[in-house]
Amino acid sequence: MSETVKIIYGDQTIELPVIIGSEGEKAVDITQLRNKTGFITYDPGFANTGSCKSAITFMDGEKGILRYRGIPVEQLAEHSSFRETAYLLVHDKLPSLRELNRFSILLNDHSLVHEDMRQFYETFPRASHPMGLLSSMVNALRSFYPELRIDEEEIDMTVTRLLSKVRTLAAMSFKISRGHKVVYPRPDLSYCANFLNMMFDTPVRPYLVDNDLVRALDVFWILHADHEQNCSTSAVRLVGSARTNLYASISAGIAALWGPLHGGANQAVIEMLTQVHRNGETVKRLVERAKDKNDPFRLMGFGHRVYKTYDPRALIMKGVCDKVLDRLKIDDPLLDLAKQLEAVALEDDYFVSHNLYPNVDFYSGIILRAIGIPTNMFTVMFAIGRLPGWIAQWKESMDDPEWRIGRPRQVYTGPRLRDYTPIDDR
Ligand code: CMC
Repeated sequence: MSETVKIIYGDQTIELPVIIGSEGEKAVDITQLRNKTGFITYDPGFANTGSCKSAITFMDGEKGILRYRGIPVEQLAEHSSFRETAYLLVHDKLPSLRELNRFSILLNDHSLVHEDMRQFYETFPRASHPMGLLSSMVNALRSFYPELRIDEEEIDMTVTRLLSKVRTLAAMSFKISRGHKVVYPRPDLSYCANFLNMMFDTPVRPYLVDNDLVRALDVFWILHADHEQNCSTSAVRLVGSARTNLYASISAGIAALWGPLHGGANQAVIEMLTQVHRNGETVKRLVERAKDKNDPFRLMGFGHRVYKTYDPRALIMKGVCDKVLDRLKIDDPLLDLAKQLEAVALEDDYFVSHNLYPNVDFYSGIILRAIGIPTNMFTVMFAIGRLPGWIAQWKESMDDPEWRIGRPRQVYTGPRLRDYTPIDDR
């Protein structure tokens, strides 16, 4: 007999079925709870709520495990490319050589964006944050590239367009913000090398592709490619649950990622380290501030809702960081500061007892700085990396036989019934 959970309330008992995932994770199926008992559940931040069944990414926060479609992220970071990992996430299998080549050809064929979209950039204020721009541009893509039929082939085309064009849009926004000539994608360059070339090639200084930096970017994007039901992915799924198109759903995901508690943390980490370096503040003082409940300050790049141990992505990121700085012979004082901060925090009772460890954003900004990416584009880099995950999750939700529009309930705490008061009597 399958497992159940008994709920006793007053003098009544009901039994609810238990769903068991392929890695043994157990969930109480409460779909009948309100019908049978009149109760709803209350779970701020959804920390105990499974919003869907998903076969894409597995995380074990206690053991520090992250796998895409069953494959450990460590193996993908070592052997795969971002392009191949994107294929794996979106198509649920590692591609054959023929499939990978075809995917590359499609990514190349769809890498241009409609010239009219350039005008949008010209009309936004120059100081606009690139994440706001990216979210708007991705939404606008729907007007330029509407899906003609909602079938598998058309969805695949939209997916390829998005993966390819978002990279072009991001580089384009950087060039226009600098007042520089836009650099077009090149058919002879790989996905990552093409992005770097579009960012850094200028008529007076041709960009020379550095394979070590291309590899660092590949790994950076692989590490960001998916992370199951985080804030932005849940936003993508929730918006998509209204049967909203893929572009608009991704645009919502980009908006969610922008926040400093989510993807925006990579920018916030560098700003925090820069400020400490500039003001000569000690790392001990920073840790004390993070512990002080009267101070809203939090150590950015530390802590995670799911990981209660070292984030496996942060571990790989730290290694890449050392390699890139060594290779470029850069002595970045922010890396020394980050390492000191980590050492002090990991010895501190508060951080130990709260299971607060460095997360993916702690070291990633130092790599991006070394590559030459401006700080305000760090979260855009995260967004490009997360794209395959958002797309795979959106696709999975569209095919989910248990799909329903997302519509949580609430516990109302406002005034009871009262009469309207005419304005003269207030
Ligand atoms: N610095 C100091 N204290 C912290 C921190 C931190 N970075 N993170 C959590 N805490 C404390 C928090 O004050 C609370 O303490 P207490 O129980 O004594 O009141 C306890 O730890 C639990 O915190 P929480 O806010 O309930 O935890 P959460 O799971 O809701 O939040 C988080 C997770 C990532 C938003 C949070 O750890 C945080 O704000 N970190 C800093 C921002 C950051 O680095 N975000 C990137 C996350 S990884 C990239 C991504 O996938 O988005």
